[in-house]
Amino acid sequence: MAIIFNEKTKEFHLFNDYLSYVICILPNGHIGNLYYGKRVSEKSSYTYLLEKRQRPLTAYVYEDDETFSLQHTRQDYACYGTGDFSQPAFEIISNDGSRLSDFIFDSYRIFDGKPSLKGLPHVYVEKENEAQTLEILLKDTVSKTQLCLSYTLFSNKPVITRNARFAQFGQEKIRLSRALSMTLDLPDSDYDWIHLDGAWGRERHISINPLHKGIQSIYSLKGSSSSEHNPFIALKRPQTDEHHGEVIGFSLVYSGNFLAQIDVTPFEQTRISMGIHPDGFEWQLNMGEIFQTPEIVMVYSDNGLNGMSQVFHELYSKRLVRGVWRDKKRPILLNNWEAMSFDFNEDKIMALAEKAKSVGVELFVMDDGWFGARNHDYAGLGDWFVNKEKLPSGINGIAKKIHDFGMLFGLWIEPEMVNKDSNLFREHPDWILHHPKRSQSHSRHQFTLDLSREDVYQNIYQQIHRLLSENAIDYIKWDMNRYMTEAFSVYYSKNHQGEIFHRYILNVYRLYEALITEFPHILFESCSSGGGRFDPGMLYYAPQTWTSDNTDAIERLKIQYGTSLVYPLKSMGCHVSDVPNQQVRRLTSLDTRANVAYFGSFGYELDLMKATPDELEKIKKQIKFYQDYQHVFQEGHFTRLLSPFHHDLVAWQVVSKDLKTVIVGIYHLLVEANGVSKRIQLKGLDKESNYLLNEKTYSGSELMSIGIVIKEEELKETYQDFSSHLLILERK
Ligand code: DGJ
Repeated sequence: MAIIFNEKTKEFHLFNDYLSYVICILPNGHIGNLYYGKRVSEKSSYTYLLEKRQRPLTAYVYEDDETFSLQHTRQDYACYGTGDFSQPAFEIISNDGSRLSDFIFDSYRIFDGKPSLKGLPHVYVEKENEAQTLEILLKDTVSKTQLCLSYTLFSNKPVITRNARFAQFGQEKIRLSRALSMTLDLPDSDYDWIHLDGAWGRERHISINPLHKGIQSIYSLKGSSSSEHNPFIALKRPQTDEHHGEVIGFSLVYSGNFLAQIDVTPFEQTRISMGIHPDGFEWQLNMGEIFQTPEIVMVYSDNGLNGMSQVFHELYSKRLVRGVWRDKKRPILLNNWEAMSFDFNEDKIMALAEKAKSVGVELFVMDDGWFGARNHDYAGLGDWFVNKEKLPSGINGIAKKIHDFGMLFGLWIEPEMVNKDSNLFREHPDWILHHPKRSQSHSRHQFTLDLSREDVYQNIYQQIHRLLSENAIDYIKWDMNRYMTEAFSVYYSKNHQGEIFHRYILNVYRLYEALITEFPHILFESCSSGGGRFDPGMLYYAPQTWTSDNTDAIERLKIQYGTSLVYPLKSMGCHVSDVPNQQVRRLTSLDTRANVAYFGSFGYELDLMKATPDELEKIKKQIKFYQDYQHVFQEGHFTRLLSPFHHDLVAWQVVSKDLKTVIVGIYHLLVEANGVSKRIQLKGLDKESNYLLNEKTYSGSELMSIGIVIKEEELKETYQDFSSHLLILERK
């Protein structure tokens, strides 16, 4: 790995075994992009890749030169107003109303390691030699603003991270009305673009479409990354599939409003822009102040989509998630929400906990309904003290009893929200996001606390801090059940109203950081009506996320398959629930529900009190099975094999790091009569070794080239709609 600056050619070359990224100082001092892709050999100059030609209706930078125009030059943090007519990376509004700027190269530095981003989530290194960083400093002499473009190249991964930082060093106050994390110009547009779209209950379905000329984009203006779009896009070559071909993934480490946009120009260049959504955003910078954009993680793969995903999985498991829970086995939990909703008392909780213990559950989680006047969703949010009528022993009394059973104890909170029927709101009606002269939209009868305010932040911090210090809590599920509206803060002056969304999320991060630092033993799971805030920003603080409120095993195949494009298995909370399923009324077997949920952080969300002795026995065995193979599910290499978006036969596999154990999940959606025998080729096995499957021996190469043969007649009565099989292969 190296980052090199060639003084003569003014080029920066970033390369490792997998990729090269070549940028240069353009004749006007801006930064241009010459190449990003598979590793190419080192040479002093790639300047020939700059387009220098005369074209009609073009604005040129220099009066005596009709070849250099920003419109036809690929840039690395694009600037509008001086010849590039596409949407830019940033925009500065100066005091005189001008939106022009001209950032000229000033200096650079290259150093080992990766700096952290103050107040923002980011991937990190543990040793300096894991990465090198290039920082390029540019200056706009009129507004007296500095821009620092930061690139970190990982040594043994096809990964580059980028971010931008603005600093105001002049007297003049400037306003940033757009400050994306990156733009990147690629020389052609022969790509399909991939994104993860959906809605509540069907989050992160895979969407793939060929690029067309003009703009295509996804975004969130909801105050959180949202169920509808994940802050991730990828560009793949049309022929790229799960296992072969070129793809570049872009993942924004941020949990608030975002834009991910692709613009194909009439000249078939492709500009990727990603960062905080510019709509509704404005940030005032006074002298001496800094604005830091969130981080983008770019993964280059020429091993198809699985190749890209495996890089994201490794990076996010080991260099984004932090703390003791990063490498620890995640406890198998039982959550009482689907069993009880708000309808519980201490006796019911203890009876369920005891039953949970009897089948081997490791963590009992008491969900919504334990605090204030929270007997329904009209009341209680904001009052983070126990409801003693329901739970006379208090949280600590219950925690103690559960600990005495030999289980861990977890609790649900939703600290960012308030109901009007709460002590907190009655005392502080102006603490919600709202405009005093306008109506207030509610969602699930709740309102968003104006966490951008210091007094609100302090109140919530103190309430949650007290809760965690006074009670023996091992796990917290941090929920967030609405999107933000009327994002106006009565606390801030008019010049700062464009900052509210971002200030809000910065204080969510600050709250998380304070709590995980003070209570490092607690495992946090983030949640937002299921997977409405399943993003890398959250994973930096909470090692796992509740994947979706939809727990139907068949629907979950699509949700988990899509989520796995970026996120590792152990980041996905996956629970077995009751049937008929609460969301879709579908009936599936207990086996199928577990066979899907094993591929995640495993748990249960059902009423064990109603389970038959046979079911309890089966659950016991499932828990034992997951415990035996947890290291494979949580630390192994996961590979998608057959997609639920395309086939009625779905498959995925996970291989232990030492290649000894392979677990294949096979799922039948709708079966057919007189069906075709199918083969499923496995991936990433030890090709020189033999593996044992159902007492028969197969070589690794055989399993990868010929595959496992699925014969309807051998499956007999288990071959039916929504059936599933788990194959365990052990190396001999
Ligand atoms: C939404 C979550 O996704 C559910 O799992 C549950 O915790 C409810 N909120 C509780 O209100």
